[in-house]
Amino acid sequence: MHRLDPTEYHVPVMAQECLHYLNVRANGTYCDGTLGGGGHTGLILAQLGEGGRLFSFDADEVAIHHCEQRFGVKAGDRSKQPILIHSNFEHMAEVMRTEGRVDGILLDLGVSSYQFDHHERGFSYRADAPLDMRFTASGPTAADILNERSEQEIAKIFYDYGEDPQARRIAAAIVNRRNLAPFRTTIDLRNVVVTVVPPQHQPRSMSRIFQALRIAVNNELVRLEATLASMIPLLAPDGRIVVMSYHSLEDRIVKNVFRDHSAELTLLTKKAVEPQPHEVQTNPRSRSAKLRAAARLL
Ligand SMILES: C[S@@+](CC[C@H](N)C(=O)[O-])C[C@H]1O[C@@H](n2cnc3c(N)ncnc32)[C@H](O)[C@@H]1O
Repeated sequence: MHRLDPTEYHVPVMAQECLHYLNVRANGTYCDGTLGGGGHTGLILAQLGEGGRLFSFDADEVAIHHCEQRFGVKAGDRSKQPILIHSNFEHMAEVMRTEGRVDGILLDLGVSSYQFDHHERGFSYRADAPLDMRFTASGPTAADILNERSEQEIAKIFYDYGEDPQARRIAAAIVNRRNLAPFRTTIDLRNVVVTVVPPQHQPRSMSRIFQALRIAVNNELVRLEATLASMIPLLAPDGRIVVMSYHSLEDRIVKNVFRDHSAELTLLTKKAVEPQPHEVQTNPRSRSAKLRAAARLL
């Protein structure tokens, strides 16, 4: 694999804010659930001393390989830092069962710039690529969903996850098109969206439709609530949980889970924290980020 400059892979969003809320202690134990390019992992690592430990998870093996090179470690090797775990962060509680409680968990949800810009995954509507969108190499692809699910299910994905006002019309057009030939590429989907959505709304609609499909392919919202709840017992007293989301439904889930666990957590952010204007200017992909943080009470 071509060795990338770390910032070419992904620029870490709200880096200072994440470190502030994580309150990294030199000899603490931390989990980064979304390693990506290793931006936040690198920042946490820089604050750890000899006794500190950092477990960094990613479901995508390309992210794991990139960070093996970046940090000079092998995935799964627990003798060096950071400890790279090729796994969905859903399994964090299980993976950490024998490691004791942790002082902080960071989740930076969604996709990295690398995943978005490397067109072979089909995350972006801007390039022609297979309509895949999976973080891992298993399970149904985006094309499978469009070719196999019912019109109602497809409309629900676009409406629920994309909040797209044309969800039903786009789903109907997809079903018409697939009766002629199955969906294979991003261009196949783009060609259908442009038949339904007026030109001035196409870029926004295209982003919403592609994001909604990606969320469905990777089941990103379905298990988030239960997964977040499963992480709370992992935290040591005053242990921090910091979550950054890029989608209003995701942010709502984070907010509700923190609220529902108010007996165990104290909120560190009354309202979601957003990036400063200068960050949005230099890194436009940060613009929709919302950060919420809480600390374990007992
Ligand atoms: C926004 S990027 C993280 C970027 C990282 N914080 C950085 O600064 O480089 C999100 C990463 O999380 C991974 N990811 C998303 N959902 C995941 C999940 N449920 N389990 C494990 N990894 C996940 C993606 O593969 C992607 O690499």
